[in-house]
Amino acid sequence: MKSIDTYDFTGKRAIIRVDFNVPLDENFNVSDSTRIRAAIPTIKKVLAGGGSVILMSHLGRPKKNNDDKYSLHHIVPTVEELLGHKVEFTGDSWGEKAAEMAAALKPGEVMMLENLRFYAEEEGKPRGLAEDASDEEKVAAKKAVKASQKEFTKRLASYADVYINDAFGTAHRAHASTALIADYFPEDKMFGYVMMGELKAIDDVMENPQRPFMAILGGAKVSTKIVIIEKLMEKVDSLILAGGMTYTFAAARGENIGDSMNEKDMHPLALEIIEKAKAKGIELYFSPDALCGNRFAADADTLECDVKDIPKGWEGMDIGTKGKKLFTEVIKDQKTILWNGPVGVFEFDKFATGTRAIADAIVDATSRGAFSLIGGGDSVAAINKFGLADKVSYNSTGGGALLEYIEGKELPGVAAIRK
Ligand code: 3PG
Ligand code: MG
Repeated sequence: MKSIDTYDFTGKRAIIRVDFNVPLDENFNVSDSTRIRAAIPTIKKVLAGGGSVILMSHLGRPKKNNDDKYSLHHIVPTVEELLGHKVEFTGDSWGEKAAEMAAALKPGEVMMLENLRFYAEEEGKPRGLAEDASDEEKVAAKKAVKASQKEFTKRLASYADVYINDAFGTAHRAHASTALIADYFPEDKMFGYVMMGELKAIDDVMENPQRPFMAILGGAKVSTKIVIIEKLMEKVDSLILAGGMTYTFAAARGENIGDSMNEKDMHPLALEIIEKAKAKGIELYFSPDALCGNRFAADADTLECDVKDIPKGWEGMDIGTKGKKLFTEVIKDQKTILWNGPVGVFEFDKFATGTRAIADAIVDATSRGAFSLIGGGDSVAAINKFGLADKVSYNSTGGGALLEYIEGKELPGVAAIRK
């Protein structure tokens, strides 16, 4: 495998798959630039080595071409500012203009392609099929897009001499730019620094954790976290389960959770997890109390009560005072901490104090030598909102990719470089 550290970029055009799928505010300004900041060292490395850079990314999930809402032109100014370098925007990824600009690119220059997902070929899934399309039509459409996906991939590859995959956040997708394109660069493909850093940080935590090792999992649903909970139970000494899934566990134990979120079909699995943790000797922590709201809104009325006695008309939206105290206490002495998912609806200030308490406790443990890895869009957004990002050991740029990697799945974006 080639390494970005030793590769000679002199006179080479490097096409870099970055994950600039960043949140935009109502004025289309980047509201969290974590992913862009993360990619800067890779870009700078190529430029410093005498090469030129073609950046490519997706943004959101557009369903058609040239949907301005999803145009990457919105983020060009932020990339230029953070890179301290001019970035030429092509306005397209497949058209003649992109090809011409790439051909004319000189060492030291940076250009950026338009949102790759403007074309169905990026994902290789047919678009615009009629709702009542027959099975044959579906198969034919799929075949057609797979064929044109080859053309699209070949075109992207033709722009460059070397391919760098630095899009960890999208590494769980087997798309044209994240996986298929690697085949066109058998001798000239490599990871960027984001990829290298992410894989190492997660491998370190999962394979060689300093003990005690605690995972903190928030998030709304048990159903989306079940595989990772099981996987983590093979590794950790203790586990905090919080966020919306708290109430499904409580309901499974027969407690009164009022109008809180409740995945009834998950009750048997929830009870099984509790039993498994016991059998394995893993400490499993839930918040004993909740801060409830009378509706899901920033200005909801609040009521603090035990999770087992939430009255009708109220739903748990954050952990309560006892939960904050318990979690702060148990996080304090950890040596390795993996945090994924806020413990409350932190987007609403009234319901952000639980997540803040978790963040503070992790920062405290980190300052006393723990390794803390924060992952998943929401937890990283929370830590940024609190201004604590530089006080934890590692902020992952991955959401789904991080979870799948921890679950032990092979990520197509990683495999394409390694194979
Ligand atoms: C993400 O933010 O999850 C990545 O950028 C991948 O995007 P996707 O979930 O739309 O594939
Ligand atoms: Mg995603």
